[in-house]
Amino acid sequence: MSDWETIRLDYDGDVATLTVDRPDRLNALNVDTLEAIEEALAEAQDEGVGALVLTGAGDDAFVAGADISYMQDLSTPEAQAYAELGHRVADAIEQFPAPVIAAINGYAFGGGCELALACDLRVAAESAIIGQTEIDLGIIPGWGGSQRLPRLVGDEMARRLIFFGERIDAQDANEHGLVGEIVAGDQLDDHVAELAADLAAKPTYALAAAKEALNQAHETSQEAGLRYERRLWSGLFGTHDQREGMEAFLEDREPEFE
Ligand code: COA
Repeated sequence: MSDWETIRLDYDGDVATLTVDRPDRLNALNVDTLEAIEEALAEAQDEGVGALVLTGAGDDAFVAGADISYMQDLSTPEAQAYAELGHRVADAIEQFPAPVIAAINGYAFGGGCELALACDLRVAAESAIIGQTEIDLGIIPGWGGSQRLPRLVGDEMARRLIFFGERIDAQDANEHGLVGEIVAGDQLDDHVAELAADLAAKPTYALAAAKEALNQAHETSQEAGLRYERRLWSGLFGTHDQREGMEAFLEDREPEFE
């Protein structure tokens, strides 16, 4: 296990929880923190976890964004390197071979919103406040927000959020499809842990294939996506979980997945 200063990676059975742990900065993401997240994702992947939860330490923030004190004096080449690092982390979440759930326990602004967008599912505490707030810092979303947000909430809403830098509450975010579910703050951890455990109990390869196929829906033409889906679908035949899942159904019993 690695020892990081600004994040924690905890395991509970087949579920890993990655907690951004810089509460005095509202979990803002500096370079060290992003690099630690990248390493932790690789470690959790090597461990073969069945689901991963991403959250922030403390009661106030999921992630209050990229680190503004670090960004203030960046040159264009330095900003480009920072953007590339943020993109690598978001891509690693999106391509993580098991589902990733964002447990949004408070402020999710700028880069924090963008990391949540890269997750498979977003569950927010009632008190969460979310936004792509970069415009009022004189910049735009730089870790994927301009691309992932419209896919989730539609073009018009994405433009409203990004142009106005609006900070919306969990209820609004839910109504616009930015989060899938809202729960009371004191139930967030338990609820997300339950979701993650349920997912981790599903057939691993099938879940990875489902995630890969769904990711492709945004990447390619429908025709190419359908070809991709057929390949992934057929590739699951002969796996233990496919044989077992179907046999269990036909024998009217619970399946025992690998
Ligand atoms: N980068 C660096 N530091 C940050 C930060 C960020 N994104 N967000 C918060 N902090 C720091 C604050 O500067 C403050 O530091 P200090 O104690 O040395 O003064 C500390 O975290 C606590 O934040 P504070 O603003 O005092 O808390 P608050 O409860 O009054 O307000 C927010 C919380 C989240 C509303 C406010 O901090 C905020 O708007 N943050 C910036 C959000 C943003 O635009 N993020 C996008 C960046 S791309």
